[in-house]
Amino acid sequence: MAAHGEDESFVRRDGSRFPIAWWSSPIDLPSGRGVVIAFTDVTERRRAERAARDRDVATIRAAEAKAAQRRIMEQTTQIRRQIARDLHDGAQQRLVALMVSLEFARTESGPAGSELRALLDSAVAETQGAIDDLRELAAGLHPPTLQRYGLTAALQGLADRMPLPSRIESGLTRRLSASVEASAYFAVAEAMTNAVKHAQASCVTISVGQAGDALDVTVADDGIGGARIGAGSGLVGLVDRIGAHDGTVGVESPPGGGTTVRIHIPLDPQDRVAQPVVPGGQVLREP
Ligand SMILES: Nc1ncnc2c1ncn2[C@@H]1O[C@H](COP(=O)(O)OP(=O)(O)OP(=O)(O)O)[C@@H](O)[C@H]1O
Ligand SMILES: [Mg+2]
Repeated sequence: MAAHGEDESFVRRDGSRFPIAWWSSPIDLPSGRGVVIAFTDVTERRRAERAARDRDVATIRAAEAKAAQRRIMEQTTQIRRQIARDLHDGAQQRLVALMVSLEFARTESGPAGSELRALLDSAVAETQGAIDDLRELAAGLHPPTLQRYGLTAALQGLADRMPLPSRIESGLTRRLSASVEASAYFAVAEAMTNAVKHAQASCVTISVGQAGDALDVTVADDGIGGARIGAGSGLVGLVDRIGAHDGTVGVESPPGGGTTVRIHIPLDPQDRVAQPVVPGGQVLREP
């Protein structure tokens, strides 16, 4: 009967070993039954198999790392949203209630000019300041517009608050996952803040679009150029954030040629949310 064996080795004259495979087959000889045995050196085959196994392990590890990064991003977004919600529903509501009481007390405190009235005036102003600070803090954690209306609306709100004329061109028709929307939003916020702080630009254009399985966002200013990843923490943080989605960031910033930050985020099936957005056209805002 034919037989085959692997996992064996031969010993060379110098004592070193090498793996072999063998095949044997019966053969009828004039003198009776014999056997033919063939041996093959399988060193190369084993090496190729090991390399393929190593590649598979590396691919699995990379996929696991990507999934872990994704979970971290989602959890971070979820936690930020929850804290923003808690600040709004908790501390902010209590301060608003306090504010109403203080305003009532002020009205009841008699004519303007009294010491009590002055104290209550300052208490009302302080409370209003605390409410504003808290609202800003909550919006910085996760802007309510982003959660409610999506990326285009939130970017429009961001552009409206910037002390620079800004144009938003958005081709987005569907909502994306909360973590992708949040990452794109905070990346644009950093690029726009940079344009305001460093560029001496006269306007900024933000383009957002979904091409196939990816979200592409561009922030371009017409300023002095010279942006450099690593000179501060903002662009580095932006690259890390987008990298966590397996995305890429490109910065073109020739001296005198303005700065363009290109963000490319590949979208997984779970990033493409079926919910449509209210279409947002081009809006040009003058300061
Ligand atoms: N739009 C831009 N136009 C001109 N220069 C820029 C622009 N964006 C960034 N730069 C330059 O690149 C550097 C790095 O930017 P980055 O955002 O990483 O840091 P930063 O804005 O200085 O500080 P941080 O973002 O940590 O508050 C900036 O210090 C600035 O010199
Ligand atoms: Mg910055």
